[in-house]
Amino acid sequence: MKNKILVTGGAGYIGTHTCIALHEAGYEIVVYDNLSNSSREAINRISALIGQPIEFIEGDIRDAEMLRQVFLSHHFFGVIHFAGLKAVGESVAKPLLYYNNNVSGTITLLEVMAEYDVKNFVFSSSATVYGDPEILPIDESSSRSCTNPYGQSKLAVEHILEDLAVSDTRWNLIPLRYFNPVGAHPSGQIGEDPNDIPNNLMPYISQVAVGKLPKLSIFGNDYPTIDGTGVRDFIHVTDLAQGHVAALNYLERQVAPVGFLPINLGTGKGTSVLELVSAFSDVSGQTIPYQFTDRRAGDIASCYSSADKAKVLLGWQAKLSITDMCQDTWHWQSMNPNGYNVT
Ligand code: NAD
Ligand code: UD1
Repeated sequence: MKNKILVTGGAGYIGTHTCIALHEAGYEIVVYDNLSNSSREAINRISALIGQPIEFIEGDIRDAEMLRQVFLSHHFFGVIHFAGLKAVGESVAKPLLYYNNNVSGTITLLEVMAEYDVKNFVFSSSATVYGDPEILPIDESSSRSCTNPYGQSKLAVEHILEDLAVSDTRWNLIPLRYFNPVGAHPSGQIGEDPNDIPNNLMPYISQVAVGKLPKLSIFGNDYPTIDGTGVRDFIHVTDLAQGHVAALNYLERQVAPVGFLPINLGTGKGTSVLELVSAFSDVSGQTIPYQFTDRRAGDIASCYSSADKAKVLLGWQAKLSITDMCQDTWHWQSMNPNGYNVT
C-alpha cells in the first residue's frame, strides 16, 4: 500500500474522479467533505467503482477540532484540497461566505497540517487567477489578477501559500491551476451534478441535449476568435484527476522541498463554444438549439494553457479529446438525467 492522502472536497465533481485515480494508483484515501455541494450517493458510487468502501468523514474544513481528530487518527503523506465553493455569480452576492469558506477554511486546514507536521499540499487553483491574459498560451509566470470574489479567494490562497513557503522552507505547496474541467467517468457512474441551472457551458449543453433545458444561450458572437464565440481549454476530468496523481508522485520523488510550485493543468488547445456545441451534437445525435445573446459580464475572449511545465516536471499531459469529453458527458447525463438524485 502506498501513502495515505486526505482528500478534502472528495465527494465533489473533480474530487470523486481523483479519488478513483488515486485508488487505482495505489494510494490510500480518506475523504473529508461537508456535503454542502455533493451527496453521499457520490461516495457510494466511488466505493462501488473501486470495489471497496472508502473512508468518508463528514466535516467542514473550518472546523479545526474535527480536523485535529482526523490528523490524530491517520498518518497522512499529504492533502489534496478540493473543498471550496465555486460559483462566480454566487460569490458576488455572498463574498463573505466565499472568503470564509475558501480562504479562512484553507488557513484552518494549513494550521492543522502544520500542527501534525504534514507538509505536502496540492491545492485546486484555477486559470481564473490569470484574469484577462495578455499572452496566449498562458504559462505559469503570467501576471495574475481577478475581478470577482471567487477568483480573489483562489488568488488570496495562492498568496498565502507563497508566504508560507518563504516562512518555512519545509513546505511543498502545489497549486494546480485548472483550465476548464469537463467530462465524466467513462463508467457513466460519476460526473458533474450542478444544483439548479448550470452556470458552465458543458453541463448546460448536456442538459439541453437531454431535454431538461430548452435552448442554450451563447454569450457573445463578436469576440476576436475563430468564429466569434469564446475559446477555452477544455480538459477531461479524468485527465485532470491523473494530474493530481502525477503531482503526488512528483512530491514523493523529491529529495528537497519544492516550496511554492504552481502548475497549469490544461490541454494547451483552445476550442470555441460553437465547436463544442457541434462536437456534442455529433456525439449525442441530438440537436442542440441555441441563440446568441449578449456577452456575459466578466467573460474573456480566449483562454488556453501552456501545458509544458506539467509535462516537464510531472511527466503528465492530457490524453483525451473533445470527442471523448462530449461522449463521457453524454453517457453520464443520459444515464443520470437527475444527477445523483436517484429518488
Ligand atoms: P464541487 O463543488 O463539485 O466540489 C467541492 C466539494 O467541496 C463539494 O463536495 C463540497 O461539498 C465540498 N466543500 C465545500 N466547502 C466545504 C467545506 N467548508 N468543508 C468541507 N467540504 C466543503 O467542485 P469541483 O468542481 O469538484 O471543484 C473542486 C475544486 O476545484 C474547488 O475548489 C473549485 O473552486 C476548484 N476549481 C473547479 C473548477 C471547475 O470548473 N469545476 C475550475 C477551477 C478550479
Ligand atoms: C467560469 C468562471 C471561472 C471558473 C470556471 C470554472 C465566469 C466569468 N468564469 O469560467 O471563474 O473558474 O467557470 O468553474 O463565470 N457560455 C455560454 N453559454 C453558457 C455558459 C457559458 O455561451 O450558458 C460560454 C462563456 O461565455 C465562455 C464559455 O462558454 O465563453 C465557457 O464558459 P464557462 O463554462 O462558464 O467557463 P469560463 O467562463 O471559462
